[in-house]
Amino acid sequence: MSNKTQTRSPYSVMDEPHSEIDAATAPVVAPLAIEVADSKDETPPSREVVFDLRDVSVYYGQALAVAGVSLEIHRNQITAMIGPSGCGKTTILRSLNRMNDSVSSFRLTGSCTYHGNDLYASGVDAVEVRRRIGMVFQRPNPFPKSIYDNIGWAPRILGMRDNLDERVEKALRGAALWDEVKDRLKTSALGLSGGQQQRLCIARSIAIEPDVLLLDEPCSALDPISTASIEDLMQDLKNDYTLVIVTHNMQQAARVAERTAFFSLDVSGGQRKGILVEYDDTATIFTRPADKRTEDYVTGRFG
Ligand SMILES: Nc1ncnc2c1ncn2[C@@H]1O[C@H](COP(=O)(O)OP(=O)(O)O)[C@@H](O)[C@H]1O
Ligand SMILES: [Mg+2]
Repeated sequence: MSNKTQTRSPYSVMDEPHSEIDAATAPVVAPLAIEVADSKDETPPSREVVFDLRDVSVYYGQALAVAGVSLEIHRNQITAMIGPSGCGKTTILRSLNRMNDSVSSFRLTGSCTYHGNDLYASGVDAVEVRRRIGMVFQRPNPFPKSIYDNIGWAPRILGMRDNLDERVEKALRGAALWDEVKDRLKTSALGLSGGQQQRLCIARSIAIEPDVLLLDEPCSALDPISTASIEDLMQDLKNDYTLVIVTHNMQQAARVAERTAFFSLDVSGGQRKGILVEYDDTATIFTRPADKRTEDYVTGRFG
């Protein structure tokens, strides 16, 4: 049985701004295919590996987009991915929750595990993966629905209907939006500012209690004040979630992330492909990188 879901799911809909939502046709989520280790008491959070990528390469058709990526992402940390446009940051990020399944030419080689489970093994339910690993996109994409229904929609579909009011409030508080919207929950989410819409999208993601949040340049469409509030919010969220953020804003990576991965384009052999040049503590990447290419990039000599 193919594990690519062709049916509409809450998560694929979230990827499509303003698409029609039909709760009646959304699939029932299959039984859990992935066990999340509950090891809060066992190991210090910062050492627990959530994602482990070993020699991951991604192809779109014949084209090798990004090659040979190996990295570990740790629980309750913010991991940033930086690097010039086209070097495969989004590709790798979307590989972490099977978001690329909808791209027919997409092919991944190597090993990509989540809490020790192969994310690409047959039998892994991509819909369930995306329930645990939420995603926030560059452009805020609220549904053309009320603020309340934006947050309540996925929980309703997933059968989390009990105490929905409380769940909506908790998600909006978690995204630092409650105080701004509590008196207008039934009004359209499209009336919110860009920064509020992005926090709404974060609230929508956390309403179903995921394990991980992936954020792909979440502030690139926002003004500096909204950007600062999202960065503050990320610091709060990492107590409960593991965050991975793609950003082209190096200051942002330096401000928010514990670990930073620097990707670049390799043109040797006449083939352009993305590579992971260096991955280390953020302070190391920005102050004493091991690789000359990293140094050139973070000091603005290239990129
Ligand atoms: N859906 C796709 N189909 C074909 N090629 C793609 C697709 N998405 C990305 N690519 C290619 O993969 C490479 C990496 O892209 P991307 O991951 O978007 O880079 P970044 O996020 O670092 O800018 C680029 O050459 C891009 O053109
Ligand atoms: Mg990108």
